[in-house]
Amino acid sequence: MLTELDQIQTDALAEIIGIDSDSALEDTRVRYLGKKGRLTAASAGMRDVSKEDKPAVGQKLNEVRNAITSALEEKSAALIAIRDAAAFSGIDVTLPGRPLPKGSLHPLSHVLDNAVSVLRRMGFAIADGPEIETEWHCFDALNTPADHPARNESDTFYFENGKLLRTHTSSVQIRTMETEAPPIRIIAPGSAFRRDEIDATHLSAFHQLEGLYVDEKVTLADLKGTLEFFFREMFGSATELRFRPHFFPFTEPSFEVDLKFHATGRESKWIEIAGCGMVDPNVFQSIGQTRGDAAYDPEKISGFAFGMGLDRLAMITYGIPDLRLLIENDVRFLSQFS
Ligand code: PHE
Repeated sequence: MLTELDQIQTDALAEIIGIDSDSALEDTRVRYLGKKGRLTAASAGMRDVSKEDKPAVGQKLNEVRNAITSALEEKSAALIAIRDAAAFSGIDVTLPGRPLPKGSLHPLSHVLDNAVSVLRRMGFAIADGPEIETEWHCFDALNTPADHPARNESDTFYFENGKLLRTHTSSVQIRTMETEAPPIRIIAPGSAFRRDEIDATHLSAFHQLEGLYVDEKVTLADLKGTLEFFFREMFGSATELRFRPHFFPFTEPSFEVDLKFHATGRESKWIEIAGCGMVDPNVFQSIGQTRGDAAYDPEKISGFAFGMGLDRLAMITYGIPDLRLLIENDVRFLSQFS
């Protein structure tokens, strides 16, 4: 039996050396080690081996099995190596790789991140509200009566159910005061929508950053100081600002803030950058009715609010002459801000 086993090993190894495909290798494995294979058949002969010889024959059987198994494994690895080499032939692995194109933040995101970080340092927390708003939150609660021109069909996008695309982020003032009692110090960045003719300084979908501060003894000086500090942090300490008296239904007194804008290669000019004012007592009164408590008693508390155009902040930050560049998604433009 020992000679038979030797013979099986010799035959198997000789056969394996000449194999050049996975299927032939598997075929050989089955013919030697499979259930009906030669080695399996031979090992059935163990029954007839005398007791004294059993250990020696058993050991030989194991040796032969191991020898065949490792020859099969080596051959399999060798076949894989040959396939790999064939796949790589013709590829120069010393060539430099192709760089992956890197994305970058949109200029608006850069500006928003900056603005938020300045205001957070001053203690403002981020608040949020829906873009599809009720007329109540966008207008009525902000002391804006039904006949106000901002509510015209021709100025606002209305839905059939009476809701509308918010025309400003000031609706978040109302949403916040409905659910939180003073002191309030929030900013609310977000999209706003108007039926404006699109031109270099107007978009029909644009971005605003709202601010609201309500507490005891908040004054106009706080408002002016906050905005001046903010714009100088954003655009440098030499930034020129002017506060022009204006009218907003929900603030009294109200102002528009202009900033001296220097676009590259153009004459500098004042551009309107924000609206602001002291929260109108009527707004507090209306909030009080909604809440059913005296948290916003206009005799005890006061506040200021502001809303600025983020798209215009981006214009100023980067000297962009035309707002439309911000929404055209032209990578030649966008890649300049990475
Ligand atoms: N909501 C006003 C606008 O969109 C801006 C504003 C906000 C004015 C807060 C005063 C107070 O023009």
